[in-house]
Amino acid sequence: MQRLISNIGPLAHLAGSGPISGHIDDLENYVSEPGMAILIEDHAIVKIGDNEELLSEYDNAEVIDVNGNAIIPGLVDSHAHLIWSGDRSREVRWKQQGKSYREIAELGGGIAATVIPTRNSSDSKLSSIGIARMREALRNGTTHMEVKSGYGLDTETELRLLQIGEDISKIDNLPSLDLTWLGAHAAPPGGTIDDYYEEIMSEQLPAVLDQGIARSADVFCEPGWFSTEQTEDILKSSKAGGLDLRLHVDEFEDGGGGELAADLGVQTADHAHYTSDDARAKMHAASVNCGFLPGTPYSMGEQYPPFSKCMDNEWVWSIATDFNPNCRTLSLPFIASILVQRNEISPIATLAACTRNSAETTTHPSGLIHGQIVEGGIANMNILNGPLWEAWCLQPGHSPFGATIIEGELICH
Ligand code: NIG
Ligand code: FE
Repeated sequence: MQRLISNIGPLAHLAGSGPISGHIDDLENYVSEPGMAILIEDHAIVKIGDNEELLSEYDNAEVIDVNGNAIIPGLVDSHAHLIWSGDRSREVRWKQQGKSYREIAELGGGIAATVIPTRNSSDSKLSSIGIARMREALRNGTTHMEVKSGYGLDTETELRLLQIGEDISKIDNLPSLDLTWLGAHAAPPGGTIDDYYEEIMSEQLPAVLDQGIARSADVFCEPGWFSTEQTEDILKSSKAGGLDLRLHVDEFEDGGGGELAADLGVQTADHAHYTSDDARAKMHAASVNCGFLPGTPYSMGEQYPPFSKCMDNEWVWSIATDFNPNCRTLSLPFIASILVQRNEISPIATLAACTRNSAETTTHPSGLIHGQIVEGGIANMNILNGPLWEAWCLQPGHSPFGATIIEGELICH
């Protein structure tokens, strides 16, 4: 089945190899002028070229005329906590009293407060919650998500969350999922990190490897949660078992997580808010992506991380939603508006951060290139609701997309 996406306005394709870093001054290399068309066969892009030429050459293809609207790649959310139950909205009171994330956890809020309702929810309830969230993400242009377990905090529930993730990843016309085991997310309710670390090493990690669903492992490496030594042990054993590695580091203070991320050569070190410049440089030299999650400081009323420092130093970075009970947005265009409308980052650098760069850290299940619009890549793209591509990050609170093409299928919003 051939489809021709025709009459395209500006096409922000972002094509090229590897991640993009620095200030992007050569916009013409990433955004084509109006007048292009894209030929899709099944789920892949087979040709990109002049609109009139492709229309006459492929006159049997089904034509989707986008009326001069702009197109950008399908967005890649490289850090999401998708499947959990419960509601922590009451914590807003503590936040407004100036209590820190750690103090809220000590008061009985935080991660452990989500674990109880998650454990008590049936598989079908958790599946419906996950599917509804995937629909919401797609409506906001996300075509692929990296999805973590981490609200079970016992072997049985962590395996259950991974199994549900795998089951819902098979549903057509929803974002594809790349599943990560985040058993080492916090101490289980009533337990200690040290006891739970022993349980993870002796029981949970072997069970996760045996189950064979998770592609990667992640740890919340932060003073007060998992230490750098515990994190190193968990990730080294995970790697020996064949998993790729990711990390949560330096969210509230520089706890040495960025250094460890560089030493271990993880795919991406996320949050990385208080990471030192030396550690950031080490991460870059080790090809470790710096994964900023600005929705979290937004939700907590805190300062944003130093995006422009990464740009000035040409260090590779990405952004993601970090969707979780403490940061409840699935909209990458909203996260992007934080950078563009509050932090003076350009729309093109922000777009690269949640397409081509984030895609480098999370593989598409087809094995095809994603996060850019390129011949041979997966046919994932967003059709804007107007003729200017920059509008993708300038409509916070609304989806800027009229339609999304996901694996070759047109979904109108
Ligand atoms: O990445 N900080 C660790 N984990 C999540 C938050 C989890 C939660 O508060 O439920 C994060 O922000
Ligand atoms: Fe997170």
